[in-house]
Amino acid sequence: MLSAVYPGSFDPITFGHLDIIVRASKCFDKLYVVVFENKGKTPLFSVSERVAMIQEECSGLPNVEVLSSSGLLVDFAKKHGVKVIVKGLRAVSDFDYEFKMALMNKKLAPDIETVFMMTSLKYLYLSSSLVKEVASYGGCIKDLVPPGVEKRVFERMNVQRMSQ
Ligand code: PNS
Repeated sequence: MLSAVYPGSFDPITFGHLDIIVRASKCFDKLYVVVFENKGKTPLFSVSERVAMIQEECSGLPNVEVLSSSGLLVDFAKKHGVKVIVKGLRAVSDFDYEFKMALMNKKLAPDIETVFMMTSLKYLYLSSSLVKEVASYGGCIKDLVPPGVEKRVFERMNVQRMSQ
């Protein structure tokens, strides 16, 4: 059985993440989607809120399990017998950061491979940070995140939505 892990902050999950999850779930027998605490970022949602939102969106994908972890990604992978890390790659600007992380993970765990999936063209510009920025001004995010996530973002920010 070939399993993979798709890690991220997912603060919040976007259609770009979901696109990678759906496509990766077709490539592996089992896909763990794992919410990691990113010490460099102040999150809008708690880890458990982020897990709950992803679970809601992945309920139709039987081989996807959503979890959280506060340790190293490679330690999660070893613990769960996972040999592949899936990452989504958007523009060239992602490459430097992702390349460094892939090499560091390779150093920490040489038998674990990082596999990059190119983002779908329509999500090339999409990031959780931009979603939060647009929402903070009351802008329309309905094409960027699922409806349940959109609702939670505006509730959490206490911002009035502009007309859609
Ligand atoms: O969505 P993000 O913020 O780009 O995801 C970053 C994430 C969670 C994949 C990265 O910070 C991570 O792997 N965190 C787990 C801790 C770890 O293993 N750090 C060393 C990575 S080389």
